[in-house]
Amino acid sequence: MIKFLDLQKINHRFEKEFQESFQSFLEVGWYINGSQVTKFEKEYALYCGTQFCVGVGNGFDAIKLILKAYIALGEIHLGDEIIVPANTYIATILAITEVGLTPVLVEPEIATFNMDVSFISKKITTKTKAILAVHLYGQLANMKGINKIAKEHSLLVFEDAAQAHGAMDEHGNRAGNLSNAAAFSFYPGKNLGALGDAGSVTTNNKQIAALVRVLANYGSDKKYFNSHKGINSRLDELQAGILSIKLKELDADNAKRRAIAQRYLSEIKNKTIVLPTYHKSKNHVFHLFVILCEKRDELQVYLDRNGIQTMIHYPLSPHQQEAYAEWNELSFPITEKIHEEALSLPISPVLTTKEVDLIIEKINAWTY
Ligand SMILES: Cc1ncc(COP(=O)(O)O)c(C=O)c1O
Repeated sequence: MIKFLDLQKINHRFEKEFQESFQSFLEVGWYINGSQVTKFEKEYALYCGTQFCVGVGNGFDAIKLILKAYIALGEIHLGDEIIVPANTYIATILAITEVGLTPVLVEPEIATFNMDVSFISKKITTKTKAILAVHLYGQLANMKGINKIAKEHSLLVFEDAAQAHGAMDEHGNRAGNLSNAAAFSFYPGKNLGALGDAGSVTTNNKQIAALVRVLANYGSDKKYFNSHKGINSRLDELQAGILSIKLKELDADNAKRRAIAQRYLSEIKNKTIVLPTYHKSKNHVFHLFVILCEKRDELQVYLDRNGIQTMIHYPLSPHQQEAYAEWNELSFPITEKIHEEALSLPISPVLTTKEVDLIIEKINAWTY
């Protein structure tokens, strides 16, 4: 069986270094907020090109902490509206509602799966405070367009970069450095994945970086003295050490993902399948390779029978979830179409040429 994502194989490449790191971690005996976290924060800020990086517990908290920091600063108030793509992974939207703000959903472009900038202006009200762009599946959102609208309306811009570590725009600026503040997830399956939960916030705003750090540590700057009503969301030393090791390989891994994507794009020839739009630049790191197919469920069963595991990102859009029953009657036709037809093919730095050959061959042979 070709696994959708062989995490064991991905991490096996680093095992020796992990063991050395673990050994020194045990010897040092410092588990939270220590030198490994500081080291990784510096490395990741440098990698993203931002002045600051703050390690946090996971990607969901990273988004919440950005919003909480701007609320603490008084730039966003409870009940304010945040514009967000309707087809994002639900974590983006849950983070907004969790801190007492109101998500305003915007349809994506079917070609890129990212927020359609032409719909944003119509959604702006007096309560709108920010646009939270998501680089879905690893491809940068149209940040030029988003930042332009934001400037015209004096809005903040944030990135949910949970799926886009290393993606770069035409000027060489990376995900995480294209807005006021960005959230990353290092969930194990991400392009840069820890061996457990982990996340970070990147920003060029010193005040926000400091506030995120305080808010993630019970709102405390000085032990047992609390300036804010914070939460507990810290990056572990152990995970930081793992991330430092894997970061060195991130660009090479992303290049491997792109090479596989190029093969899928040029060699998959099946009229029933719509391939993703890609401009052959570094703006896509192919966290996921998502195709559209009207008979998606049949295709998935067929591939499974032929030894190829696929996944659906995502089977149900946020506005159709039981958790957001108040939105269930709303209609987002593009979002709904994506959720009905999307199928993610295996893509990872450890997928072999032979496996890619077989995936292409089986998809090309599929008829219904
Ligand atoms: C787009 C997006 N946003 C946010 C998250 C949340 O990250 P985490 O699982 O680390 O909390 C994820 C991943 O799970 C994601 O894919």
